[in-house]
Amino acid sequence: MDWGMTNRFSRIISPENGRCVMLAVDHGYFLGPTEKLEVPQRTIEPLLPYVDSIMLTRGVLRTSLPPISHVPIVLRVSGGTSIIGDDLSNETITTSIEDALRLNVSCLALSIFVGSKHEHQTLANLATLVDSGERYGIPILAVTAVGKEMVRDARYLGLACRIAGELGAHVVKTYYCENFEKVIEGCPVPVIIAGGKKLEKDIDVLELTFNAIKEGASGVDMGRNIWQSEHPIAMIKAVRSIVHENFSIKEAADLLVTEKKIGDRKTVVVNQKNI
Ligand code: 5RP
Repeated sequence: MDWGMTNRFSRIISPENGRCVMLAVDHGYFLGPTEKLEVPQRTIEPLLPYVDSIMLTRGVLRTSLPPISHVPIVLRVSGGTSIIGDDLSNETITTSIEDALRLNVSCLALSIFVGSKHEHQTLANLATLVDSGERYGIPILAVTAVGKEMVRDARYLGLACRIAGELGAHVVKTYYCENFEKVIEGCPVPVIIAGGKKLEKDIDVLELTFNAIKEGASGVDMGRNIWQSEHPIAMIKAVRSIVHENFSIKEAADLLVTEKKIGDRKTVVVNQKNI
């Protein structure tokens, strides 16, 4: 990796421990005003001190983060479909590399839909984006999007992650599944996990995070399970404690209880410069 690529990559995956806490707030690009993300700035601002990076579209970046913010940006650059359209897999690249550079992003993110009608198109999108990223030293995060008809098992996710790595993605986001270590084993680059739909119990989020890390994930790119929580700050702190401090589920659950009691108002700031 050249200097720029290495520098940007180190802002996404910590060179100290190889881990990452990325906050996903890109849902509106096909879901519209998702619950608790109706006004992105309101959702994002209180969480910024506790994240390593933030994943969002250029529209939300421009309108919801001040340009003096230091938080590393993972810019979603694939889209062009909506939840009410006929095929979510029919994505294109939605942002030019020049605009991404102007926005000073640390990473570019794009979805691939392996096994879908538009598999080829989305994999070609990834290859094109990797070439653009290589030209300017910007790492690429490939998101293995899973259509309703796909089974989220190690065989499918392992296939999608491996293909993403083979096409040159520098980091891959996928879902946690049974036999997750098989997914990790077959993927040549770091893998981070999405949280998926809001889980019923807080402990389930901690278990998901803990198991993923234990089985080899490099971190999380989590959205709904953080900001749809009743206590988003307490939740991100608890998730962070597992990712960066190797807390057990019990230790993280205790931290969550304590942080809930303290209340989301009191902040022990981790990354003040992100704000
Ligand atoms: C959508 C995405 C989201 O960023 C991803 O799903 C993470 O968010 P959540 O934890 O809410 O699932 O990439 O394609």
